[in-house]
Amino acid sequence: MLAVHGGAPVRGGVSWPQWPQYDADTEAELLAALRSSRWSVSWYSPAGGKSRERLFGEAFARYNGAAFGVSVDHGSSALVIALEALGIGPGDEVIVPAVTWVAPATAVLRAGALPVLVDVDPETGCLTADHVYAAVSGRTRAVIAVHLACTVAPIDELAELAREMGLALIEDCSQAHGAQWAGRAVGTFGDIGVFSLGAAKTLAAGEAGAAITDSPELYRRMLMLRADSRGYSAHDPLPGEYELVELGEIMGGNYCMSELTAGVLLDQLPRLDAQHAHRESRTRQLEAGLAAIPGLTPIPVPAQVNRRAVYEYGLRFDPGTFGNAPIERVAAALTAELHTRVYPPRIPLPRSNLLRPHTKPRFAATWNTARATDRPFPGADHYCDHTLLMHHSVLLGDPRDIHDILTALDKVRTLAHTLTPADTSIPTT
Ligand SMILES: Cc1ncc(COP(=O)(O)O)c(C=O)c1O
Repeated sequence: MLAVHGGAPVRGGVSWPQWPQYDADTEAELLAALRSSRWSVSWYSPAGGKSRERLFGEAFARYNGAAFGVSVDHGSSALVIALEALGIGPGDEVIVPAVTWVAPATAVLRAGALPVLVDVDPETGCLTADHVYAAVSGRTRAVIAVHLACTVAPIDELAELAREMGLALIEDCSQAHGAQWAGRAVGTFGDIGVFSLGAAKTLAAGEAGAAITDSPELYRRMLMLRADSRGYSAHDPLPGEYELVELGEIMGGNYCMSELTAGVLLDQLPRLDAQHAHRESRTRQLEAGLAAIPGLTPIPVPAQVNRRAVYEYGLRFDPGTFGNAPIERVAAALTAELHTRVYPPRIPLPRSNLLRPHTKPRFAATWNTARATDRPFPGADHYCDHTLLMHHSVLLGDPRDIHDILTALDKVRTLAHTLTPADTSIPTT
């Protein structure tokens, strides 16, 4: 019997790997930032030298093979300053995939432009060049390509199309830190790569973000945009000096990353590759086992991807694999078997409760439902109705964890006929 109906769960009493991960070294970094008395890049430097947020920006750029990195307080802020640095504003349209967290769409509104939601590949949830091409209008200025869950958008085609059509390209790598396409890090194909470094992400610091670019001009503009029109002084600050100077070439806001956060990130970044390698070996084990379960397949990853970054591991299922049970019931049944969340993707942005521009006067003035959302999104609907996701931390444990996941998938598949659509006793995820 399924655990959701009172049967014994596949996984009883064994905990999953904790996320985020930290140890005595993380505590030491955090304590050092605390004791430095320099809690903000905007505060003076008692001991002199670069701020931690600047050091993290540099280290993160190096990690990605980019020339410049800017630390910010959120991935959402990174999107806003990227759009503003590219000069995008009122009257402009920006193409945003219909399946993603809401931030890429809200960032476009915050920049004063109109997000035009575009359908996605039904198997990956990512934009394709064909979808983008069909949506371009005389007002389109940029594309935000999101590398979703555990795969990578077809970034070579998207970059080529953007170049041909004179559009800016922002890569949102919030779900793909460290993924590589043909040996090159995602985030370096477009004009700017943006990252969330929120608590759930594979590089995590609670609330944080970053942007990378190879352009000195975009770097300089993003520095000012995130620090109230200030940039770094020409020399490293001496003891007692401020590191930021008023440049005032473009008006900014305050999206600066705290020094305490930057301390945590300086500890976390060197761990990322080993964690990716660990997740990759569990992913391979999971995918080998999946081959024996009818109807279930991994989300496809383009052949050019030589290193994937799993943020949410995604499984696709053929229609009928779980009988006629709604996806929410299947997800709830798996969650009950495994004692860790298994969930469908968020509903597509055109129908999301989180995208309600008419609730804010500033956004309502820009919003245009007919242009932004009024069309079918069959790819997005298919992706969201046939995909199940799990957080990447389930791939950071030992092989037994994967055995449990496979056992639960097969058990729920076999007993799916007991999950009727009308069974309201089952909580949804
Ligand atoms: C694809 C994507 N873009 C942007 C963001 C926003 O990042 P933040 O929550 O750090 O503002 C997220 C966060 O979940 C995300 O997944």
